[in-house]
Amino acid sequence: MKDKILVAYATRYGSTADVAEAIGDELRTMGADVDVRPVDKVQELTPYRAAVIGSPIYMGKWLPESQVFIEKNQQRLRSIPVAFFAVGLTTTDENPEVIRKAEASMDAVRMLVTPVEAGIFPGRLESSVLSPTDRAIITMIRAKTGDFRDFQVVRAWAQAVWQKIAVV
Ligand SMILES: Cc1cc2nc3c(=O)[nH]c(=O)nc-3n(C[C@H](O)[C@H](O)[C@H](O)COP(=O)(O)O)c2cc1C
Repeated sequence: MKDKILVAYATRYGSTADVAEAIGDELRTMGADVDVRPVDKVQELTPYRAAVIGSPIYMGKWLPESQVFIEKNQQRLRSIPVAFFAVGLTTTDENPEVIRKAEASMDAVRMLVTPVEAGIFPGRLESSVLSPTDRAIITMIRAKTGDFRDFQVVRAWAQAVWQKIAVV
């Protein structure tokens, strides 16, 4: 039975997992049967009739796990409606060039599979939980820390995705 929707994500510090859960939850309120899973816990795609796949942005790119997942499953993903989302800190910047770069984090996966919808959302950056390397990077680039996620915006996006996949 191909009646389920998959929400799959990668995460390093959990904030993208929360965004994925909110998307899944909103799709459920629309009446969908949804599995929310880290990409490395998805065994097969045959049960799913649509997929929403996301990643945080690190140094301008998606985490490799999500990219590899799409690469590995591209044939199947090209035959069902797919939406992508990216979570990062530059996503609320007022400079259109910075926003364009956040969107460009999805260029590599867009070349493999054309999404019906693609969203970029603000994430969370807490210095105290970061690995020493990540902390050194964010200190060096003087990144702002805090939780900038807006779950209302995420849920509104999930509704827009639902509009695109419900009819298929
Ligand atoms: C080392 C490092 C590099 C980052 N690079 C970017 C970036 O290039 N663009 C961006 O928008 N956010 C960047 N961020 C912010 C993360 O995308 C953001 O904190 C995100 O919410 C983390 O998701 P996670 O908790 O699921 O791992 C970076 C964060 C760290 C720690």
